[in-house]
Amino acid sequence: MITTPDTSVLASDLLAGKAVAVTFKSTNEETFLTINSLIAKILSRCNLKFLIDTCITVVREIVLNAVKANAKRVFFKSSGLDIFNGKSYDRGMAGFRRVITDFQSLREDLTKSPLKITVRFTKNERFIVISVKNTAAMTDDEAARLLQRIDLGLRENDFNEIYEDAHDTAEGAGLGIIISLLLLKNAGLDPRQFRLHRDEQSTSVEFRVPMDPRKPTVESEIKLRIIDEIESLPTFPKHILELQGLCDNPKSNIDAISKKILSDPSLTADVLKISNSAGFISGKRIDNITDAIIIIGLRNLKSILIATATRRILDRRYKRYESIWDHCNKTAFYGRLIAEITGQPRLSEQVFIAGLLHDIGKIALLAADESLAGKIGMTAGRMRVGTTPVLEEVYIGISHTTIGRLVSEKWNFPEFISVAIEHHHTPLSAPEAQRGVVTIVYLANMLCEIEMKNFDMSFIETEILEDLGLRERVRFNEFFAAIQERYERHTSSLRGQ
Ligand SMILES: [Fe+2]
Ligand SMILES: [Fe+2]
Repeated sequence: MITTPDTSVLASDLLAGKAVAVTFKSTNEETFLTINSLIAKILSRCNLKFLIDTCITVVREIVLNAVKANAKRVFFKSSGLDIFNGKSYDRGMAGFRRVITDFQSLREDLTKSPLKITVRFTKNERFIVISVKNTAAMTDDEAARLLQRIDLGLRENDFNEIYEDAHDTAEGAGLGIIISLLLLKNAGLDPRQFRLHRDEQSTSVEFRVPMDPRKPTVESEIKLRIIDEIESLPTFPKHILELQGLCDNPKSNIDAISKKILSDPSLTADVLKISNSAGFISGKRIDNITDAIIIIGLRNLKSILIATATRRILDRRYKRYESIWDHCNKTAFYGRLIAEITGQPRLSEQVFIAGLLHDIGKIALLAADESLAGKIGMTAGRMRVGTTPVLEEVYIGISHTTIGRLVSEKWNFPEFISVAIEHHHTPLSAPEAQRGVVTIVYLANMLCEIEMKNFDMSFIETEILEDLGLRERVRFNEFFAAIQERYERHTSSLRGQ
């Protein structure tokens, strides 16, 4: 991209009735940050925030296909092969598959080539039209393959079927387009409005976002089973509720609280474990309850009690998913640091408990159908979908964020916890009152995901990066490194003891 366009100006232009576009030759993080930001701003201003994730995912998929198509043409040209000739096509494709793994050099070739991609937005009273155009003609075979995938996406709703079908295809890229159609269907958009236009000079794929989409509800057997399960969860243990009451009372005696915790050895162990892993104090392992209470404070103790009891109930009822809890602990740790570094220490206690609980819905989801949940996770990874909840909604009819909210409500957790659980992947649509906490939990979770190489920086909502002054890559890297360094220092000091 030559210059970074101001996406706020572009969004205003679109609303004023002008067509707006972003043009580039190849993609990098910056390209996607710009496109995503533009989509988020346009949809927010049209009161269609709930479609942001779906549209970002679908546009990313179409753009990546367009870049791949252009790269293919550049490769054929440099190899002296004709892409429109059947025989040389197969030979060229064999070579192209080998070089596509080295995308960096393809990117350089693309920058030198005349081929361009334009993402264009137009709007009328009824629709926002998003089109992705590349200045290269499609071959008939390529068009036939794409149309076949579009057709499958229109017809098929069963994820298991699609998953098997798409894995059978030789080019392996079919899944993305099919899933894009499912996402559009699920978001209440008419997938028949997903169209391919081609002529001798260019190819474009467009879809329409209606100004008043109607979101269908997906009913599935698993969804009903999960909801029944949550209904029948046991009530919160009485002694934990009593302890929470003691934590709320400023006159409470710390000795009395410690004694009560100590009477339950596994609770004691869990409280100490979370107190240590949450990094309340660097360089010192907390090994007794009285110290823990003094160091972490009664409000954080209350949070740890809620998290511990929640995990014990879910572990006992389902299965202990250790990796989820480890991830939640790290998210809580990162969240507290983010609150501090971004000058919002008053939010750190709320962020801490919300981080500890943010993925509780995953437990019930995994327990309901581990194989399906696994396939969804794999698809999200393969398509690099930023939002697994959207895929969960498509295939199961309910996402781990909604399930988490139901569990939180079942146990009467404070509203900010329910909201943070529900919106930890969609912070822009969180209610204003809880936006601060939600944003930090979201960012902490994204940092964990980036570390796992599931995402990169361009998957973070651009608006959030802008608000925190982290839009520049250098600033973001410094910020991330500072957090990782604090975490490392803490965990290695614990290991050394
Ligand atoms: Fe999550
Ligand atoms: Fe998470």
